[in-house]
Amino acid sequence: MKNFKICVLPGDGIGPEIMEEATRVIKALEGRTRRFHLELEEAVVGGASIDRYGVPLRDEVLELARGSDAVLLGAVGGPRWEGLDYSIRPERALLALRKELRLFANLRPARIYTPLVDASTLKREVVEGVDIMVVRELTGGIYFGTPRGVETLPDGTQRGVNTLVYTTAEVERIARVAFDVARKRRKKLTSVDKANVLEATELWRKVVSEVAREYPDVELSHMYVDNCAMQVIRDPRQFDVIVTTNMFGDIISDEVSMLTGSIGMLPSASLGSDGPAMYEPIHGSAPDIAGKGMANPLAMILSVAMMLRYSFGFDEEARLVEDAVEKSLEEGYRTPDIYSPGTTKVGTREMADRVIENLSDKPAWREENHTS
Ligand code: IPM
Ligand code: MG
Repeated sequence: MKNFKICVLPGDGIGPEIMEEATRVIKALEGRTRRFHLELEEAVVGGASIDRYGVPLRDEVLELARGSDAVLLGAVGGPRWEGLDYSIRPERALLALRKELRLFANLRPARIYTPLVDASTLKREVVEGVDIMVVRELTGGIYFGTPRGVETLPDGTQRGVNTLVYTTAEVERIARVAFDVARKRRKKLTSVDKANVLEATELWRKVVSEVAREYPDVELSHMYVDNCAMQVIRDPRQFDVIVTTNMFGDIISDEVSMLTGSIGMLPSASLGSDGPAMYEPIHGSAPDIAGKGMANPLAMILSVAMMLRYSFGFDEEARLVEDAVEKSLEEGYRTPDIYSPGTTKVGTREMADRVIENLSDKPAWREENHTS
């Protein structure tokens, strides 16, 4: 039996509620498969940390994350902290974790679960069968470029500045991740930029094209981000893997999440080249529904599945979780965000209960392999 140390960061808003369900799923899975033990160490980040310690991310929490085998994060932020300086906003915790752990590659899979095709605001014939992987660059671009800030000019008006920067090396490494991912899927990669206007993304396009020579088996195409925003709604099935900058990836991934019916369905994995990876839903802290027990825990639970797969190589267990999610949806259980007439509306806890119940205790690989 393998032991792993998981740094658990519930955060703010619905973060703690969905994290509680995700940890219940972990415990249930441990009990059923007996292949691993995940030692969970919880810490406070984001607005909750600001309230208690005055800062969104304490050094000791960063060290805890660094010393773990993987990090699970719920969500950070909320209107209560919006007036604060950028340097101590809840979001800083997330950005600092990504930066300090060098998690440059963010994988955001948008897969349509068949029972949810009618939960999307788009027509069934548009979303049926959609399976897109957005590979978002996560530690560069306009999110981190300098100079940045707001300065007051001599005439008393102000000037706000952010800088979009990408180096060859940064583009190369994210491109390689995207090509590798595409190679294991349908071998189609769309690189999304704004090369007709932004020089930094003109370089992006050039470097991605150069890396493409190492991957003759993957079909690469380029698309401007405005066109991409339209195409993912018009004909999402044309996409397999999308690779793009930090900010474009933030926006496009929210957009493709709606194909799946709800942003509450999308997990993500943030990977570096070494050290622990971080797993989090792509949705935010949803302060409007926090504490009401109605948040969708599935993105968080599916993030656990991604952790099992990408950090620990437990593919079968990951699939077990994903299958349990799918089965629960097939049985008609829905949190309010994915509810449609004729289905059964449940809260956060009950949705997780359904998933736990559906974690099959006799997965196929155990029958084949009694030694594990
Ligand atoms: C996301 C979120 C974050 C981002 C925020 C909370 C800083 O929107 O993970 O997509 O912009 O990266
Ligand atoms: Mg976002």
